[in-house]
Amino acid sequence: MKHFINLKNISSKDLRKILSDAKKRKNLRKNLNTLDLDKDAPLKGKLLIQMFEKSSLRTRLSFYLAIKQLGGGTITLRSNELHLEHGGESLEDTAKILSTYGDGFMFRTNSDRKINEFKNYLSIPVINGLSPSSHPTQVLSDVFTIEEIKKKNISDLTIVWIGDSNNVLNSLIIASVKFGFKLKIGCPRGFTPKKSILEWVKKNGKKIDIFFNAEDAIKNSDVVFSDKVISLNDKVNKKKKLAQFKKFKITEKLFSKAKKDCIFLHCLPRGSEVDEKVFFSNRSKVWQQALNRVHVQKSILLYCLGKLR
Ligand code: CP
Ligand code: NVA
Repeated sequence: MKHFINLKNISSKDLRKILSDAKKRKNLRKNLNTLDLDKDAPLKGKLLIQMFEKSSLRTRLSFYLAIKQLGGGTITLRSNELHLEHGGESLEDTAKILSTYGDGFMFRTNSDRKINEFKNYLSIPVINGLSPSSHPTQVLSDVFTIEEIKKKNISDLTIVWIGDSNNVLNSLIIASVKFGFKLKIGCPRGFTPKKSILEWVKKNGKKIDIFFNAEDAIKNSDVVFSDKVISLNDKVNKKKKLAQFKKFKITEKLFSKAKKDCIFLHCLPRGSEVDEKVFFSNRSKVWQQALNRVHVQKSILLYCLGKLR
């Protein structure tokens, strides 16, 4: 069994294996209905327990479909319905009970410490479905979407992130090292990624270009990523932060500075960081991006449960 908490701890080889399994499985499902099982139903009889400490639309639904299509089932818990914390039940006991009933645990948390504590007490794999510091299932799936659309290895492409240095960007930075692609970041001064992650990048022999001007950042890019300026965890002065990002909005004018065939991606939900003209244009691939999470998460589940071919 293997955990899926941070892309840092997963080898490039295993990440590649997950993506190629997802590609095969997606192709094999072309004529199947949403709830039809993959022919081999490799997770038949398995239960994925999902728990959310924060809101979710896509992660919840895509993991539901992922485990179903593999032949298993899922139950979704809200953390405030358990005895954990307010009811006084310990995390250790909770983890042991989850391991007794379930085969995998998908956790969206507002604490990186908590997911690591769960890992220590669980005897089933834990998957990070978004934490304050990373969103690994999202980003691995986004690598899949980019290669699917561009029909190229991502290492031959230039990716640019315009926006806040948040959990999604952290995972994208790690992915740029694991998959060897060129990553540029465009953000206002004072909003660059944390030193620790940039040091990790350096230690791994990679360089990421940071621009404080969105037009400079977006030039020559194949893929533009954006995300909400205010993340679920942000306890900031929202009005002030939104004003600081004003020049980093993806307008048609800004997007036109990228390559002619550049695509736009966004993990969703969106705020005001992208103009509707770009968001609803045919170069925006956000719906395909959201759907691919089902396919990639299936292969993540197989990796975690030791069933990846
Ligand atoms: N992109 C993403 O994780 O969406 P949800 O917050 O709706 O799960
Ligand atoms: N950065 C966003 C991603 C939401 C899926 C957040 O953490 O709120």
